[in-house]
Amino acid sequence: MIKKFLDLGMQPLANKYLTKKDIIKKNKEQFYHLEVGFNSKTKLVSIVNTVPSKKMFDGNYPYKSSMSQTMKLSFKKLAKNLIKTYNPNSILEIGSNDGPFIRNFSKKKVICVEPCKNLAIITKRMGYKTYVSFWNMRLAKKIKSKIKKIELIYSANTLSHINNLNSVFRSIAYILSDDGILIIEEPSLLECLQKISYDQFYNEHIHVFSLLSINNLIRKYRLEIFNIEKLNTHGGSLRYYIKKVSNNKFEIHKKVKMQLNQELRYGINKYSTYIEFKNKVESSKKKLKQIFLKLKKKNKKIIGYGATAKSSTVLNYCNIKNEILECFLDTTPNKIRKYMPGTHIPIKNYNKTLLNKVDYAFLGAWNFKEEIFKKEKQYIENGGKFITHVPIPRII
Ligand code: TYD
Repeated sequence: MIKKFLDLGMQPLANKYLTKKDIIKKNKEQFYHLEVGFNSKTKLVSIVNTVPSKKMFDGNYPYKSSMSQTMKLSFKKLAKNLIKTYNPNSILEIGSNDGPFIRNFSKKKVICVEPCKNLAIITKRMGYKTYVSFWNMRLAKKIKSKIKKIELIYSANTLSHINNLNSVFRSIAYILSDDGILIIEEPSLLECLQKISYDQFYNEHIHVFSLLSINNLIRKYRLEIFNIEKLNTHGGSLRYYIKKVSNNKFEIHKKVKMQLNQELRYGINKYSTYIEFKNKVESSKKKLKQIFLKLKKKNKKIIGYGATAKSSTVLNYCNIKNEILECFLDTTPNKIRKYMPGTHIPIKNYNKTLLNKVDYAFLGAWNFKEEIFKKEKQYIENGGKFITHVPIPRII
């Protein structure tokens, strides 16, 4: 049974940045009711009203994983380790984006699956076998008819975007070789609850996983987690190493039990934990608004730094508009000269001169705080300040 616990109001599609033409023509945006619920059986936390995948992942998807140094390094390090430890001969990536993970492997060994045409074309051009498709059993069967053994399946920040997880895991279990490994990387629910980062919820992030919920979901497909790693990416993620139950090649690492115990101690399995979270989110909204209003009264110049999908949730939930945030600065070509969904705050090409003219920058990309603070040392030394809402709204 799904028990709702959080209402983040009417929200636009988070990665649908508007063009100037959309604004002039007053083109209608699609809104949906963003509510979050807890499945008392599987303990999975998901948004309640989902948007059809085809509306979200098309030929215009703006997010490129290789735009971030942090992500590129994380993929490179993992690939190096995997080659050293498992040396897989066949690798399938579900949600290969523009290829920062697979480009570390030989072209002969890799299969990419990516539904967004604008991204799939990049790995195709690089010479990697790429299926422009959503992940499903039909595709799994097609691939299996050509390649008998898939030794490694990797998927980062993708499975949480798919509504039907039974279909996902059934087709993975079908195609994975008996001694193969599945590696999933996803934002961690425990981190999200601890950091009160309610902006992890938006139309694309249908689920935020815990180890507990993944365990409950994969068990029926005779899969089990045998190791985990904690990552700093996407605001705190977990990397799950999964194998078939019948495969005795890998021992179950004690870190798995430790994480599970930590989640249970926090109450990830109890509805009351989510009601507490909801109360914290409501108070976070009040505090963030207070900060902005106080600064605006003092005529401070405030902009946004990193036009993330996450910040779309925050701005629309907290009703923070253009009168407060003059613009966002971002480095992503597909976002520049566009407008934030819902709030229509303009997005400008990042440059240091623009940043150095402002008093405060709202950290939309708070998940890259370290990378950004390093980059903006001069802005900070000159008295520039950042505003963040994670874990509590404050000025840094
Ligand atoms: P991302 O982490 O993908 O968040 P979401 O999934 O919520 O969209 O987005 C990070 C955004 O921040 C991306 O648009 C690029 C931007 N960014 C900068 O503009 N400058 C930077 O130095 C960094 C690290 C990110």
